[in-house]
Amino acid sequence: MSESLSESLSESLSGAVAGATPDALAFPQDRTCPYHPPAAYQPLRDERPLTRVTLFDGRSVWVVTGHAEARALLADGRLSTDRMNEAFPIPTRRFQGLRRERTALLGVDDPEHNRQRRMLIPSFSVKRAAALRPRIQETVDGLIDAMVAGGSRAELVSAFALPVPSMVICALLGVPYEDHEFFEAQSRRLLRGPGLADVDDARTQLHAYLRALILRKRADPAEGLLDELIATRLEKGETDVEELVSLAAILLIAGHETTANMISLGTFTLLRHPEQLAELRADPSLLSGAVEELMRFLSIADVMLRVATEDIEVGGVTIRPDDGVLFSTSVVNRDDAVFQDPDVLDWHRPANRHLAFGFGIHQCLGQNLARAEMEIALGTLFGRLPGLRLAADPGTIPFKPGDTVQGMIELPVAW
Ligand code: HEM
Repeated sequence: MSESLSESLSESLSGAVAGATPDALAFPQDRTCPYHPPAAYQPLRDERPLTRVTLFDGRSVWVVTGHAEARALLADGRLSTDRMNEAFPIPTRRFQGLRRERTALLGVDDPEHNRQRRMLIPSFSVKRAAALRPRIQETVDGLIDAMVAGGSRAELVSAFALPVPSMVICALLGVPYEDHEFFEAQSRRLLRGPGLADVDDARTQLHAYLRALILRKRADPAEGLLDELIATRLEKGETDVEELVSLAAILLIAGHETTANMISLGTFTLLRHPEQLAELRADPSLLSGAVEELMRFLSIADVMLRVATEDIEVGGVTIRPDDGVLFSTSVVNRDDAVFQDPDVLDWHRPANRHLAFGFGIHQCLGQNLARAEMEIALGTLFGRLPGLRLAADPGTIPFKPGDTVQGMIELPVAW
């Protein structure tokens, strides 16, 4: 372990729940370095494949940290993702309102989940993502042109990392990009708002906006996935307006927040790994493998949540009905039984066994699109700006807290 990692490990261990047994680590915790799992998770790495941890409300739950066990459990129908279940684990105080409203896809089990997902699969295929590439390239080029025209410095999250996926998901769904400040702000509050009331208000506002948009589109159809769903599903009675609102919300939020974080944190990580960056620049054919390795290494969606509905024997323990089961992707994706030297960023490893897009029936619907966006955004950014560098001391650049999707809050760069 590096010196700074072990220093931050002892600092963060003081974050364990006061008076609790040593196995009751407080979970989740903030990262100490934005691209490594929290140093405080070292005991979880040592105690693979499952450990008990304690949530903010004092509840004891399982956290799965072994790769084989995570794959098996994520594919196990005895784990439910029904957030309205009273026993569903809530990872942080401000998400307590989750239980009140049904979230489409990620909040429903089969067969309802399967019905919802089938409506969307054709729009997120490898073929569709490939067809969107020219449009993504055009978006990326336009944003870099604007950055270059504006001088030789920029704040990369607002100038590039956020607008790329935001523009793309708007075009795909048929949401007007002119409204991006509104929905980006709601989505920021939803994921990172200061408190429960703020998160609930953000959800209400975003749903009201999407409901109005869907009703407008119903009366006056335009182009996009929402318009297609209205014409092919809503009008045939296969869905209703509220389900469409919930689907639109998850697609809009997941469609821009996650990829934006991968672009910002990916850029930061590459700039902090000059050897790997030089290798990538010298051989662009490494790019798609590099994106997989960055997905593994950064594991930005670090907490997946489930609740058990039956007894499950796994990894020498028995999970009981109503037990909360969490997955730490950053720890799972550094399981040295699967990834050799897991703390090293290495373009040459077969990294595609990572679980950073999840696994099983809820595996990321947008992964083909996300891969295309990351490849084009990172490849073009580093290709067009050979002198790209951080414009602030890396230790002072703010990144996101541990209880949300990981990424940079700001990223000052120069070229
Ligand atoms: C690099 C960026 C992304 C990452 C790291 C990511 C990560 C994930 C993960 C880990 C899950 C599974 C969660 C769980 O099982 O609890 C998931 C599900 C999902 N993702 Fe992504 N995602 C990304 C991009 C996208 C994009 C661009 C979209 C586009 C619309 C999207 C839409 C979804 C949806 C709808 C689900 C729920 C699927 C279901 O329940 O069937 N994601 N994502």
